[in-house]
Amino acid sequence: MASFNIVVLPGDGIGPEVAAAGVQALKTIGEVFGHSFNFEEKRIGGIAIDTDNNPYPEDTDRACLAADAVLLGAVGGPKWDLGKMRPEQGLLAVRKSLGLFANLRPMDVKASQVHRSPLRAEVVQGADLLIVRELTGGLYFGKQTRTETTATDECVYTVAEVERVARVAFDAARKRRNKVTSVDKANVIETSRLWRETVIRLHKEEYSDVELEHALVDSMAMHLVTRPTTFDVIVTENMFGDILSDLASVLPGSIGLLGSASLGATGKGLYEPIHGSAPDIAGKDLANPVGTLKSVAMMLRFSLNLTQEADALDAAIDAVVESGFVTRDIGGTASGSAVSKAISDKIRETA
Ligand code: NAI
Ligand code: MG
Repeated sequence: MASFNIVVLPGDGIGPEVAAAGVQALKTIGEVFGHSFNFEEKRIGGIAIDTDNNPYPEDTDRACLAADAVLLGAVGGPKWDLGKMRPEQGLLAVRKSLGLFANLRPMDVKASQVHRSPLRAEVVQGADLLIVRELTGGLYFGKQTRTETTATDECVYTVAEVERVARVAFDAARKRRNKVTSVDKANVIETSRLWRETVIRLHKEEYSDVELEHALVDSMAMHLVTRPTTFDVIVTENMFGDILSDLASVLPGSIGLLGSASLGATGKGLYEPIHGSAPDIAGKDLANPVGTLKSVAMMLRFSLNLTQEADALDAAIDAVVESGFVTRDIGGTASGSAVSKAISDKIRETA
């Protein structure tokens, strides 16, 4: 019997509600497939500011560093908006401490949900893509200068940084539809030329079985809206990924449906829904747990190497969403906890 140590960081607002759904799914997977998951709950974000005067307490850090994987709910809320310390600092701190350099955001549009998309059904139906965003380099981490009249932001990428995130993309593509679209601005920017050269060389040396194409970020923004079904894995640098992943995230019609994984060198990962703490619905059992459960499926796949279990969870989520037993944000009347339970029941029924 395999045993895994999972740190759970519920955070604020609806964070604890969706994190509980994630724990329930893992417990069910454990029962059905014969694994044991040990859960350790720690504080992050606003609640940690309140109790520890630190959005990412040392005790939380120690637990995360020792864990096999980390599940996060969400952080933040109006209560902490005016304070000196920000809950979001906890997010940056955990990403940095765990060395998480690749952010993965899958997006697919379910047939039953296609009418909620801002795009026409015939354009978006069947879209199923994964954006891999470099998370620790580029413009967001470069040197900044400022005078009264001039500001600069430095953008730096090394071959090693490009290689490691490209590897994540190629590896993921092999488990999907075997296609990578690398996005850059190589017609203008030097870091993008290094990006493209590195991706081409790595592809030739180690991943020639994967189909590779290149796209410029500006035309990619158009393609994501006009023909989202033609992409599988999309890999890009930090800022381009920030923008493109937000663009892609609105295609399914609710951010409550989407999960994410942030991966480091050792296979350790942080798994969280892409939405925030949703203070407007917190404590009402209205939060859609699907984004968190999709994140848990990625945890099983990428950090714990439990592929069959990940497939079972993904299939159960899809079946329940397709059945129409869904929360209010996607047109249903079910409570978040009822959806979570239905998905666990589905795993038991089909596994
Ligand atoms: P939000 O994502 O929390 O909410 C936006 C809208 O989507 C709200 O109407 C909310 O009710 C709805 N929504 C979000 N998740 C949902 C779910 N699972 N089920 C059903 N409906 C859902 O973004 P907002 O309102 O801009 O930010 C609220 C707080 O969350 C802020 O303090 C913000 O800083 C923080 N935040 C935290 C993030 C994180 O922890 N990774 C990411 C984004 C925002
Ligand atoms: Mg963003």
